[in-house]
Amino acid sequence: MHQMTSRRAVVRVPSGPQSIETVDVPVAEPGPAEIRVKIAAAAINPVDLGVAGGVFHQLGLVHQPDYTGLGWDFAGTVDAAGPGVELQVGTRVAGFIDGFDRDHGSHAEHLLVSAANVAVVPDGMDLVEAATVPLNATAAAQLVDLLGEASSKARRLLVTGAAGAVGAHVAVLAQDRGWQVTGMARAADEPFVRGLGVDFATDLGQDWDAVADAGALQEHALRAVRDGGRFVGVQPASRLPEERGIAVEVVFAHPDGALLARLLARVTTGELPARVHAVAPLDEAAGAYQAMAKGGVRGRIVLVP
Ligand SMILES: NC(=O)c1ccc[n+]([C@@H]2O[C@H](COP(=O)([O-])OP(=O)(O)OC[C@H]3O[C@@H](n4cnc5c(N)ncnc54)[C@H](OP(=O)(O)O)[C@@H]3O)[C@@H](O)[C@H]2O)c1
Repeated sequence: MHQMTSRRAVVRVPSGPQSIETVDVPVAEPGPAEIRVKIAAAAINPVDLGVAGGVFHQLGLVHQPDYTGLGWDFAGTVDAAGPGVELQVGTRVAGFIDGFDRDHGSHAEHLLVSAANVAVVPDGMDLVEAATVPLNATAAAQLVDLLGEASSKARRLLVTGAAGAVGAHVAVLAQDRGWQVTGMARAADEPFVRGLGVDFATDLGQDWDAVADAGALQEHALRAVRDGGRFVGVQPASRLPEERGIAVEVVFAHPDGALLARLLARVTTGELPARVHAVAPLDEAAGAYQAMAKGGVRGRIVLVP
């Protein structure tokens, strides 16, 4: 027997962490190709702070009549499977849901999601740890796809925000494509960044063949690219205009279960990081968002229903 209702964190009139509340809704059944996940852990990401703060409402991207659901990342177990799904009930899975205009999210007890968008969590990996990986590692891999291969004439890449969740993954994954990577971060992050196998800087410098702007420094980071170089940003809502012959791209992460499975495998080997700052109960989501909003956090704050 499933419980009849499920709790989720939402905002009605978004005005920051203090506007977050939890509501009870009926448990829904998965449709064709869908699963219902019983969530064990769900990381809070910068985008969640944006939704709770009304950033995407102000951009006209949210049209919910009652409330907007919070949360992208999740890890948990398959609780029910719809027609055509091969995943068995009880399988441990992780993934993320994208998009802003929804009344549900992963900061909840249950979530309906397309089975193609989740990956099986490797044996031995903790679900709290797994919950920190999907959005940020996927965004990093898709950013590196936009960046493309290095060449003998263009191999010097600066990754801003290299101690952050997206940046650390970019710093590792870009090396696969031949880039000679320098990670930019705060001085105290030097040991972590060097541990990713890359060079280290505390300022932007100049004349880089390419900049992967995982720190969202935007115009400042674009200025550090040489004429004719490459820039990939992380803020689709504020895409930068091209200048000086620089190819400007911006990533918008989309769920991809097969890609996530490969990324989780590289977390288990220690190649990719999965960092947990703290764990907080779902009912204390407002306080957890507040802690995240203060900044300076290394690793994710993870909500547990
Ligand atoms: N487009 C997409 O699909 C997508 C997907 C995921 C994330 N994102 C975006 O990507 C960005 C990064 O996300 P994240 O989860 O990696 O955030 P994060 O974990 O907070 O990492 C950002 C890092 O950048 C550092 N940083 C910021 N300004 C800096 C500066 N001037 N000098 C040195 N370091 C600096 C931060 O340090 P401090 O904490 O000390 O400031 C932090 O370590 C966010 O804007 C997020 O919204 C986009």
